[in-house]
Amino acid sequence: MPQHILVAVAWPYANGPRHIGHVAGFGVPADIFARYHRLAGNRVLMVSGTDEHGTPITIVAEKEGLTPREVADRYNRIIADDLHNLGLSYDLFTRTTTLNHYRVTQDVFKTLFDKGYVLRQETLGAFSATTGRTLPDRYIEGTCPLCGYGEARGDQCDNCGSQLDPTDLINPRSKIDGSPPVFKTTEHFFLDLPAFAERLQNWIAKQEHWRPNVRSFSLNFIKDLKPRPITRDLDWGVPIPLPEYEHRDDKRIYVWFDAVIGYLSASIEWAHNRGTPDAWRDWWQNRYARHYYFMGKDNIVFHTVIWPAQLMGVFSDGHYAGSAAGAFAEVSLQLPYNVVSSEFLTMEGKKFSSSRGVVIYVKDFLSRYDADALRYFLTIAGPENQDTDFTWAEFVRRNNDELVATWGNLVNRTLTNVHRTFGAVPRPGTLQEGDQRLLDEVEGGFASVGAMIEDVRFKAALTEAMRLAAQVNSYLSEQEPWKVIKDDPERAATIWYVALRCVNSLKILFTPFLPFSSQRLHEYLGFDGYIAGPLEFKEYTEEDGRSHRVLTGNYSCWIGRWEPPRLPIGQTLRQPEPLFKKLDEKIIEEELERMRAALK
Ligand code: MF3
Ligand code: ZN
Repeated sequence: MPQHILVAVAWPYANGPRHIGHVAGFGVPADIFARYHRLAGNRVLMVSGTDEHGTPITIVAEKEGLTPREVADRYNRIIADDLHNLGLSYDLFTRTTTLNHYRVTQDVFKTLFDKGYVLRQETLGAFSATTGRTLPDRYIEGTCPLCGYGEARGDQCDNCGSQLDPTDLINPRSKIDGSPPVFKTTEHFFLDLPAFAERLQNWIAKQEHWRPNVRSFSLNFIKDLKPRPITRDLDWGVPIPLPEYEHRDDKRIYVWFDAVIGYLSASIEWAHNRGTPDAWRDWWQNRYARHYYFMGKDNIVFHTVIWPAQLMGVFSDGHYAGSAAGAFAEVSLQLPYNVVSSEFLTMEGKKFSSSRGVVIYVKDFLSRYDADALRYFLTIAGPENQDTDFTWAEFVRRNNDELVATWGNLVNRTLTNVHRTFGAVPRPGTLQEGDQRLLDEVEGGFASVGAMIEDVRFKAALTEAMRLAAQVNSYLSEQEPWKVIKDDPERAATIWYVALRCVNSLKILFTPFLPFSSQRLHEYLGFDGYIAGPLEFKEYTEEDGRSHRVLTGNYSCWIGRWEPPRLPIGQTLRQPEPLFKKLDEKIIEEELERMRAALK
């Protein structure tokens, strides 16, 4: 029975281009997982979009002299282009500024409010003494009242992990200009997290399949839950759906409250765009569906605690009569099955920082190197389980000594020889024991690599696929079909046939990781159609007349299957080209120089 799998990918802020550290955290792992499950015959829905509200956007708008909407429009395009060029196969990559998203967000807010899970409270809001505008929590710095750490933020202390309010900080100051903030009374709405404490505790405790740090961080976080503000003094965001706030433009729903709802609203949008408006329910209201969330580690609590609380609250009495979703039967929504968080990537030993010039944007990277080379590096040497460092020297080494030397070399020597000698898949003689052993081992990769991907162990999975490619290389080096052909053409044909069969299987085993080169290889082998592609952009217009572009694709036409593929004897091969480019060592110095020149 095919499984319904939701691949929920963190929503990048539309406040600038994304760098390779971002896509290492949320993008590439999610795409490997989605592609694998589609190939394995499961029903995958992979959704996300740009996160376009709140101070991350307004601060850039102010700096660039644009409106928040202009900023969001500009970076939504750039980010979606980058994700497309990296081959991230979203079923829908949309935006949080759609009418649909506003409607679903307001439904969720209103439902929680009506059920008593949203509290009104007078609070002290922080405003900048210099501009009079709200100072976002993250832009306030001070001493942690609990552990004494001097650089705690207004929302959280990175040293002891405590959840803070700006008013808790000792000696608070603005991170923008150092001035102490002014605190004024203002009404805000709070999500009553303590009301969910017990349910959250019971639920998280059971999630033994989560990565240990995710589970322990979350369990620690819920030990001390306080009501959490879900509105802000801002004019950019989803309006608060209560009569007394409808016409005010100084208070909006907090960006994090609306962004996580995006997973649900994007699923609803996807179903609507396809002309099957109820199809989202197959993932959200199906208790056998599994929801996997992918993100960087700074996003954990939003996905393991706050979003689950929102979901529990909305559906707590089994009923959600939102206008966007339509009233429906008493079925609760699925909670996350796994929350897969990555650690951080640094760059040449430093933290990525756009403002300081320590950065390599996806777009710039892809203008000089191939998407698969980046995908390879980020999977094999990325921050899956620990913080890792991107260095140009290591990128070149991994590319040349591993990707090119092992998998690239195997494909290249096999295809050029077979194409030149036979022009087609040769007819083998009787297989010897060693031939069959190799075929069995490589075909065993469908089980072993697949199991590791299902366990979200992508680095191990890719390592295993590379090990199998290396086995085929050793086989060729031992068998030396280029020599055997002089005395025994039939045996040489058999050896090449075995190697081709292995290459054809490896093509599928590598597809989740390296989709572009696998597709090219598929064509060199004489096949037509898409193993797993392509992606496309579409434009949709909503009732308010505004249209937005989404990244999507018709993945049901993929012909790839996660099983040893057929290789018809006699099938004509196409003229092969090398799959990967060997990089000149001198790019290391060039790139370092480029980075030094950009350093501020
Ligand atoms: N925009 C956030 C960030 O870049 C991530 C939002 S993920 C979602 O850190 F859950 F809100 F969707
Ligand atoms: Zn602290």
